[in-house]
Amino acid sequence: MDLNKIVCECLQVTNGDIKNAVDNGASTLEEIREATGATDGCGACTDAVQRVLDYFSEERDN
Ligand code: FES
Repeated sequence: MDLNKIVCECLQVTNGDIKNAVDNGASTLEEIREATGATDGCGACTDAVQRVLDYFSEERDN
């Protein structure tokens, strides 16, 4: 996974930003939004943010 890739264009949130939020305890879309701002604009990235969240949650919990 490219950590520098932007997932949320509106807020310029990258995969790495989401990873950091997950590493810091975020486990829901709401918590990711609070930590990074992702999904707080147009909302089009919601599914993509959810997938990245799931990916890093699984990685963290293993
Ligand atoms: S791309 Fe994430 S809110 Fe618009």
